[in-house]
Amino acid sequence: MARDLAAGSDPLILLNIGEPDFTAPPLVQQAAAKAIADGDTQYTQATGMPELREKISAWYATRFGVDVAPRRIIITAGASAALHLACLALIEAGDEILMPDPSYPCNQQFVSAAEGRAVLLPTTADERFQLTRAKVQAAWGKNTRGVLLASPSNPTGTSIAPEELQSIHEFVQSKGGITLIDEIYLGLSYEERFGQTALAMPGELGQSLISINSFSKYFNMTGWRLGWMVVPDALVSVVEQMAQHLFICPSTIAQRAALACFEPDSLAEYESRRSQFKARRDYFIPELNRLGLTVPVMPDGAFYAYADCRQVADKWGIAKAKADGTGGSWDFAFELMKRAHLVVTPGRDFGNAAPAQYVRFSTASSMTQLQMAIARLEAVIG
Ligand SMILES: Cc1ncc(COP(=O)(O)O)c(C=O)c1O
Repeated sequence: MARDLAAGSDPLILLNIGEPDFTAPPLVQQAAAKAIADGDTQYTQATGMPELREKISAWYATRFGVDVAPRRIIITAGASAALHLACLALIEAGDEILMPDPSYPCNQQFVSAAEGRAVLLPTTADERFQLTRAKVQAAWGKNTRGVLLASPSNPTGTSIAPEELQSIHEFVQSKGGITLIDEIYLGLSYEERFGQTALAMPGELGQSLISINSFSKYFNMTGWRLGWMVVPDALVSVVEQMAQHLFICPSTIAQRAALACFEPDSLAEYESRRSQFKARRDYFIPELNRLGLTVPVMPDGAFYAYADCRQVADKWGIAKAKADGTGGSWDFAFELMKRAHLVVTPGRDFGNAAPAQYVRFSTASSMTQLQMAIARLEAVIG
């Protein structure tokens, strides 16, 4: 269907893809070209180049006021490899990991790959689609090993309140469990109250969790495959050995390039892009609300809108959720593609709790594209 529509006069607008429309800034591109030209491409240490670990540590200090020793920072092939390594290092067969529903779908697979079981706990808009301590406590069972959270979250762009996060982590610690937090959208925050790393928790608390991060989103380097994780001291050598055996090292060219992300010019560019992401959010979400595609919680970060499509789906005569997963937002997404040539992701990709209610729009497209998308929605919804 996408191919047929793309060939027509009104090409598809793709708001289903969760990656920035920006590419790496000039200094980063130049650093990659130089690494190639200089033949500076041999394997690095399994944990990544020491200079890059130091740059990331300095970034935590200057941007977040948090002291993270370079030794605890392990460079990986994107957040994906970091999540994979963390799960393999910590999960034994049969262990259960609690995570919010909805959440990033691959997380369930990282847990399964380590022979664990992902337990999805339904969340509500009132909870900002995040877990609460009460929910974690109620769900904790004899096989529970820990929690996997993401803040800001994909698909909702909402963060977990810092007090709630600390309270969850305190509870998990009291059970001898692990708190894994995916902070891949950390730099892309638009509200004062949020946007701080979980690593800033006081004392031992901040040192005892695992934070996942990446050059993909804030640093606009999705296809370069580079990320990192911050682990407690005691885990460094375990993760190092696993990284050595499973991956040898992350891409050397990408690492050499990433050093330039922390140059003042690059950081200024990233901040200017962050303002553009915020401007897109501030335009797009009120427009969706106006058109009856209600976004129940204003995202405070990332570049997503998790919109309730029931009102429009009803208007279009779309059947409610069916047992086979079609109906509701699934059929709505197809209908939207047919009627408006607009592509969005149905809720079914992100969980089981209320998938038929929601679709995810990505706002990581230019303002012009977003304005066109709204014009098309307006035309088909009225
Ligand atoms: C929440 C979340 N975690 C991890 C990833 C994987 O990112 P990476 O490109 O760093 O592997 C994504 C990608 O969309 C994501 O949204």
